[in-house]
This record gives sequence, structure tokens and C-alpha cells, in this order.
Amino acid sequence: MAALSLLSFTTLYAKKDESRIISVETSSSSLVFSVRENGAVHQLHYGAKVDASEFAAVPMVEGRYGNGAQAYPATGGRYLGEPALHLRYSDGNHNTELVYDSHEVARRGGSVTTSILLKDPVTGMRVRLVYEAYPEEDVIVSHAEIENGGRKKVELLNFASSALTLRSDKYLLTHVHGVWAQEMQLESELLGHDMKVIETRRQTQSTQCNNPSFLMSLGTSELDEDNGEVIAGALCWTGNFRLSFERDVEGRLTILSGINPFASTYPLMAGESFRTPDMIWSWSDCGAGGVSRNLHRWARKYGIYSHGRINPILLNSWEGAYFTFNTETIIKMIDDAASMGLEMFVLDDGWFGNNSPRNGDNAGLGDWQVNVSKLPEGIDYLASHAHSKGLKFGIWIEPEMVNPDSDLARAHPDWVVQSPGRNLYQERNQWVLDLSNPAVQDFVFGVFDGVMKMSRNIDYVKWDCNRPVLSFGSPYLDKDQDRFFIGYTQGFYRVMERIRAKYPDVIVQCCSSGGARIDYGALRYFDEVWTSDDTDAYERIFMQYATSLIYPACVMGDHVSTVPNHQSRNVTPLKFRFDVACQGRLGLELQPKYLSDAEKALVNRCVESYRGYRDIVFGGDMYRLNPPYGSDFYGLVYVSPDKSRAVVFTYCLRFNGMAGEGHSFRLKGLDPQRRYKVTEQNVDRSCWWGNGQTFTGAFLSSGAFNPSLPSLYSSAVFLLEAE
Ligand code: DGJ
Repeated sequence: MAALSLLSFTTLYAKKDESRIISVETSSSSLVFSVRENGAVHQLHYGAKVDASEFAAVPMVEGRYGNGAQAYPATGGRYLGEPALHLRYSDGNHNTELVYDSHEVARRGGSVTTSILLKDPVTGMRVRLVYEAYPEEDVIVSHAEIENGGRKKVELLNFASSALTLRSDKYLLTHVHGVWAQEMQLESELLGHDMKVIETRRQTQSTQCNNPSFLMSLGTSELDEDNGEVIAGALCWTGNFRLSFERDVEGRLTILSGINPFASTYPLMAGESFRTPDMIWSWSDCGAGGVSRNLHRWARKYGIYSHGRINPILLNSWEGAYFTFNTETIIKMIDDAASMGLEMFVLDDGWFGNNSPRNGDNAGLGDWQVNVSKLPEGIDYLASHAHSKGLKFGIWIEPEMVNPDSDLARAHPDWVVQSPGRNLYQERNQWVLDLSNPAVQDFVFGVFDGVMKMSRNIDYVKWDCNRPVLSFGSPYLDKDQDRFFIGYTQGFYRVMERIRAKYPDVIVQCCSSGGARIDYGALRYFDEVWTSDDTDAYERIFMQYATSLIYPACVMGDHVSTVPNHQSRNVTPLKFRFDVACQGRLGLELQPKYLSDAEKALVNRCVESYRGYRDIVFGGDMYRLNPPYGSDFYGLVYVSPDKSRAVVFTYCLRFNGMAGEGHSFRLKGLDPQRRYKVTEQNVDRSCWWGNGQTFTGAFLSSGAFNPSLPSLYSSAVFLLEAE
């Protein structure tokens, strides 16, 4: 991977060895390192902003159980814990001891970069630790550059992006687990004195069962929305990842994050270097809400391809038509979408394949030519029709995959991920293409390029990825199989770089059987994610809540679907489904011809009102009023950056005998002095007595805001506008 270039930076200062304290600072936080007498660099603090120079007085203690909070602990010497760096040298030795060489600080745009160079005097290995501080957003992004400064090949056995050591009496880890259609299930646990690991080995569907992100609350047993110290971490890597949390005998917690070294021993020849992916950190003493807002602000400015741009309200064909459609079906759906005030139509799976037509999930993947029996008029005909109706047009692809029943599989069996002589397992009747192979990278780029060439009216591509890697192996890599997993992700990013260079303005959604690929590595190239295939609005409350802990609302694709819900069979009112989907990027995923006139009128109304406030959802600060778990009610507020407008979402999640009396929500994030006019959306009679009146932010935050949400699935959305 390319080494970081510091040439474009304004170097503020570079020091050789006279400075014992190195401090990385944002507006509210400090990350403090100290160069110890023996040259080791220790991390002494990450938390509230401090005068870092005072840390120079902290004595170095050579403990019996290892040697403290090293900035980047390496296997060897006195270090006994899980290493950030573990090398095997050509003579078989495993020991590395890194000491300070120099550091420098440089400014670029909105960030200040501190890089600390460490060296192993015996072997010549060099590690540059890079910390990019974003003061305004209270975010620090860190990575490591590992360079073989010796004369012989070394092997990287562990190569974390970042090591962070914390000191507290209690560590509450909050993270997610899940499966298909149940992604982002929240779990919190107090860490004991053992090691906790969160990882994936699924490679392509890297976030289906967990996510490379977490919150760490300090000194408490409960996740608090508004109070207390919380640290958020999120890794930018779309592939196998590993996060480890090790509490040592002295009570310190060391968090290592990075690529999963599983089956990925990485060779470094003399002079070669390896750059790890970025790890994003944020600290706040305003609870989970504080760190989430920091990450959201940072993501909109620096971390997401679309930078929080408003993406169109769409109708997706999947749940409305699945594989069964023809030109007439799609034209009718486009017309219906236009009549309901939507802004884009997305043609999902099923439009391609001729020798092996894509009439189900068992054939056609890989053959990206339009299916002439279903759509004889072609894609341009549909896209142009959408444009003629004032809609944008989007199309689905799954370019990393192939069905055995396809021309592609018949032509290129060697492009399939496989282990020689072993079962070629199928999942969803498909195989994975070997993206570590440059020829496959060209093919995958060509799929995107080819689809874009079908019509100049294609505005959006939904990129899907419906199975994990099993029985891993690359025919292309021959004996270098250790490079497979990392090479796959690097290949994926290479393809995305080429796509973005050629198609900077196309909106691209990252989908993977729903939310199996949600990470900040992918979001550098993608505009949004498909949050989950579970479109049940009740279930989505919880998934969207957990997603919002780390990722902003502007990336969440949230769709209104039919009832009974196709995944859960649950039946919820149409308004409740809208009020949940409007928390993110709104879409519909149903067959509009089955909607009654009354339902269509409600769709029009909800779409129209969403258009009026969605800029706040996409660009505002999110305040969750309470967690939805174990509660009869849930609410959240988005507040515009200048606090002049806000939109409040409220829901009843369980019938409560007192619900008719109104439930008090304490609104957050408002300007206490300003007066806001409150207008409930999409109803003729409001469920709050104060509707249509103006109140101060202080009053609305006092608990006096108590809409009546009398029964399960009652919901209400309010727009607040300052006078
Ligand atoms: C999985 C996605 O999550 C769905 O939205 C849909 O696109 C199907 N794949 C199509 O096969």
C-alpha cells in the first residue's frame, strides 16, 4: 500500500529526541505520549483536554507484569500482552523492541498530523505512528506504517492499525452482533481481566455478524446517552478485521484494532513498507450521544463519499417485483413512483442473463447483459422513461459474484475463490470471484463501466454482495495464499478508485444482503448503505438506533415496505413505517399498484413533508432521547447546525396503560432561549396539545413535551422552527 506522503503538509516542527511529551489534541481531548528514559514511547492519557506538559513528571515504573502502556507494543523484550506488532525475522527470531527516533507535526486543511517514528535498533525495523487530529470534530484518525529497514525479508504476524490504552475502574464495551436481516443488535458488557475479541473472518460480508466499531464507556456499568466519558472506535477496513480488548493486571485496558491477521502473514522484503488501514477515535464526556455526534460530523466532512449530500427518495423494485417483471411492470412502477412524488426508481436484481437467465437466485450472476426476454427494449428505454417523468434511474449489480450456471463461470473457472481439491461451497447458489486477481479487478470494474454505458441516464448503482468467502484460496496467488484476504480488500478498493475516477457523480449504494458491509473503509467510496434486508419498521427502530451510534443518518437507506412484512410477517401502520423510514434516506420498496387511494394520498403527504425537513436529517446533529431497549417509547431529534430548526421523531413500542395521557420526552440540542413553532407532520389532528404554538427550547426540553402515543406503533413527527 502507498506510504503516506508528508510533502504536502506544512511542517510545524520536527524533533529528534529532546521532547519527552508528545500531545495530540482536539478541541476537547488530548492523547498524550511520553518518551521514557529507555526510549520506549508510552501512551499516558486519552481523554479530557489537559496540559500535557504535566505528564513529564509521571515516573516510569518497570512493572513485573510487562512494561506498561506502549504506544505500539511489539512482541519481545519485556512486553507480555497481545502485540500490535509481531514480526518473524528471517532467522526465525520473534523479538522486536521499538524505541523513539523522532517525531513531527504538520498541518493540512482541517487537521493536524503528528507522526512518531519508532525504530528497533537491532533489526532496523521502523514503525511510523500517524495521528491525524480533527480539532473541530474531536476525532483522531490513526494508522501505522511498518517498514523493513533491515536487509532480509521479515514476516508480519500481527500488524495493528492502532493501540490505545485506557485507565479506569470499569470498562463497559458496547458493540453489535447480528445475522442476515437482524444486523446491528446491540450488546453491552463490562470487561473483566481476560481478553475480549471482536472479529470477522467472513471477508466479503465483513459486518453481517459484527461491526469493526464500538463504544467504550468508562467508570460506569450503563451506556448513557448524555453523560460520562465514552470513547468511540471505528476501523476503515472492508474485510477481515480484529479488535481486541485486554485488561492487564494493573487494570489498564489496551485496545488493538486492525486487519485480522488470520491466515494473512504478510511478507515484507528489505526496504518495503506496509500501511495499515485507518482507525477512527473520538472521545466525549457527553455520553454516547456526544461521541456519535462527533463521528457523524467528521463523517459528513471527511469520511463519506457523498459528504452528507441529500440522496433522492426512491422506489426500489426488489420487494415489489423480485425476479418477476417485464418492461410493462417496470414502466408502471416508474409512473407510480412519479405520481407519488418520488425522485428515483431503482431496478433491482433480475434484469440480466440470457443463456442463464436471472429468473431466480440460481443463475445468471456474472452475465451482465440485459435479459432480452424480460426487457427487450433494454435499460436505456427504462432509464430514459424515468428521466422523462422527472425521476432519476438506478440499477442493481453484484459484480464480485458468479452463479455456477452462467457464461462467466463456464469461461473463467479459475476466477473463482477456491481451495484446490476441496468442495466448492455454494451460498445462495453462488461463488465469490477472486478480487486479489488483477484480471478479476478489471472484470469487476468493467461490470460497473459496462452498466453505465447501457444508458447515459443511469444516476445510481446499488452494489450488492450476497455471500461470505468460504474455503478461501486464490488460483492467481499460487503459493502466496497468505496474501488472499488483504489482497481481496486492496483489489476491491482499487476497483472503487477507478470507478470514482471515472464516475465521480454517480450515487453508489453499498449493500451486502442488507447491512453486511457497513464500515468507514467502504464509505470513502460509497454514498450510502442498505441498512438491512429487514424492512419491518418496528425492527428497524432498533437497528437504526444501533447503526446511528457510529454512522450518520445520511448514509442509512430506510425503506417503507408492504405488510405483512416479508421478513418478519409483522403488520404495522403505513404511517409508522414512514415515520421510521424518514429517520434516514427515505425510500419505498413495494408494489405501488397494490396501494389504495387513501394509502397513496398518505404516501404523497409523507414524501412531501420529508422533503421539507430532510436537510436536517442529512446534515443536522442527532440527539437520541432514550435507547429503545426495555422502553415503551423511543424518540430522537435532529437539530440543524444553527439550531434554527429541528425534527422530532417519537414512537410507542409497547402498549402502556398511561400512554393516552401523553409521554414526556425531554427534547435535546435546542437553543434554550429561542422560541420554536411546533408543527406535527402528516396528520389532520395532532397528538400533542401544543401543536401549532411556539415554545422556548427550555420549555420543550423540560419534559412538558408529551405527545399522546396511545398504542403500539403510534408515532408522531414534529417540525420545530425558530421564530
Ligand atoms: C440482497 C439485498 O440486500 C436486497 O436488497 C436485494 O437487492 C437482493 N439482494 C437481490 O438479490
